[in-house]
Order: sequence, then C-alpha cells, then structure tokens
Amino acid sequence: AGNDPRLPLKLLIAAPRGFCAGVDRAIEIVERALQKYGAPVYVRHEIVHNRYVVDSLKAKGAIFVEELDEVPDDAPVVFSAHGVPKSVPAEAERRKLLYVDATCPLVSKVHRQAERQIEKGQHILFIGHAGHPEVIGTMGQVPEGQITLVETVEDVADLPFTQNDDLSFLSQTTLSVDDTREIIEALQDRYPQIVAPKAEDICYATSNRQAAVKEIAGGCDLVLVIGAPNSSNSLRLVEVAERMGTDSRLIQRAEDIQPEWLEGVATLGLTAGASAPEKLVREVVDRLSDWRQVSEEIITTAEENMVFKLPRQLTE
Ligand code: F3S
Repeated sequence: AGNDPRLPLKLLIAAPRGFCAGVDRAIEIVERALQKYGAPVYVRHEIVHNRYVVDSLKAKGAIFVEELDEVPDDAPVVFSAHGVPKSVPAEAERRKLLYVDATCPLVSKVHRQAERQIEKGQHILFIGHAGHPEVIGTMGQVPEGQITLVETVEDVADLPFTQNDDLSFLSQTTLSVDDTREIIEALQDRYPQIVAPKAEDICYATSNRQAAVKEIAGGCDLVLVIGAPNSSNSLRLVEVAERMGTDSRLIQRAEDIQPEWLEGVATLGLTAGASAPEKLVREVVDRLSDWRQVSEEIITTAEENMVFKLPRQLTE
C-alpha cells in the first residue's frame, strides 16, 4: 500500500519521549541568562543537540560558539548540558568571564565520581563514544593518563592493565543500556577487582526512552526517531528499534520523511530523543495525516517527574 488519504495508519507513540529534565533546565538557563544579562549571551557548544532549539535561542539573542576564545571579555557565556573539561571554567575564571554552567546535574554527578575515584588512587576505565562532548568533558575532570576510554567489548581485550591494578569504571549518561551491560560484564570478567560506580551512570531519561521504544518496536513496521545525528541518546533509540527487528530512521524534522517510506506500513512507531521538543512530534503527526488516515495511541512504560534546580545566580 502506498499513500492514500483513506488508508489507515496506526501510530504508536512512545512515552516517555523527548525532553528530559537536564535539557529543560539547560534551555531555561539560556533564556533566563538572556533576560537577566540581555543579548547577546554566548553559548559554548550547542546547548543541547537539536537544531530547532538552537535556532530558537539564536532568534532570542544567543550566539553559539565552539570554544571560549570566541567569547568577548565582557559577554556572559553558558556551558552546554553535556558538560565541559575542568580547563574550560578555569580559563573562564582566568579571563574573569561571567559564566553559567548548564551541565546536566546527572553529568556533574559522574564528574564528581571521577574525581573521587582518582583520589582513591584508581585508574578509571570510561565507557563512552570518542569525540562526544560529554566524553571530552568527563575525561577532562581528571589528570591526563588517569582515565582510559573504552568504546566496545573488543576494546576490553586490548587494555594494558592487570588484575593487580586499582581500577574503577564509569560511563557516559546516554549510552545503550544493553551494550553497556555487555561492556561492564567484559570488564568485570577480565578485572574482577574493578570498582563499580555507586549507581548506574546511564541516566533515567536514556533508559526510560530506550525501554519505551523497545516496548513499541516489535509491533511496528517502521519506527521514526526524532533527533539530531549528533545526539547520542537519539542514535541509541534507532539502534534499539532495529535490534527488535524493525526498520528505524532518524529524522530531524517532519520534512525529512519521504512518502515512499510509508509503503506497506500499517503501524508506525514514533519517539523523540531527549533533546527534541514535543512540537516536532506534533509536526510529524500532522505531516503523516496529510497522507493517511492517522490514529494515535500513546504507549506509556514509565512516568517521569524529575525537575532540576536552576543555578542560584539566575534565580536571585
Ligand atoms: Fe541529563 Fe540524561 Fe538529559 S544526563 S541532559 S537527564 S539525557
């Protein structure tokens, strides 16, 4: 079946999906900084990995840069939700810049754990994806050479450590729950002495979104994930759906959907990464409704009510 406005299309919409508490907070930090200090407010790196969010904040007077040396001395700067290496606030202080840290509190928690593990004399094996800003930020919490990145189960076999070394592990917050479990098992197999973090580092939002898409994917002919190609947690949602044996595609906006994707699709799953606003979900439903007789069903696998406090400098 192709597209015929009389043809039914059943939508299974995953819940939870979209914005997490850390993304909500980061966006509100930029908005409040604009109100309090006036435009322009600089933001180091995309505040969250979503073009729509970034463009909306640009329209309100935010200027996005990649490095601190692009920020003038007299302008406020916000650090993105992904976190920054210690060298960044240190440089901001040296330059006496006015800065606001929008690092998600759940990422900051991993940062503090990293410091504690180093204080205890442990070498950290950090599970994450090379080059992601969160990984650069967390690895930059400790002196060079005291933390080693582990990306895959295969990497574990190549590690140079022995069973006599003081080791601990930590992870990025937005990883695949299933892949990370395998990597941790491989680490514990090879290094029975390895110390685990106090609590799992993968955040509630990441694991809830993966569980929700897992629940719907099996009953769908196609799963669309709204998110950016550089959004780690969104890419993981595509993988989870694919591992359930269902075709899945990452889209940034409704306009990315090609009508021929719907050929032979009777049930379509829909979810959104933690940095994608709900408005983009509605936009997708509207576009699909141009082509088919759409009915929506929300499949809820968890309730979320997490809210993070704003930095005091913006609430006083
Ligand atoms: Fe924080 Fe997890 Fe969102 S680490 S920014 S709550 S995806």
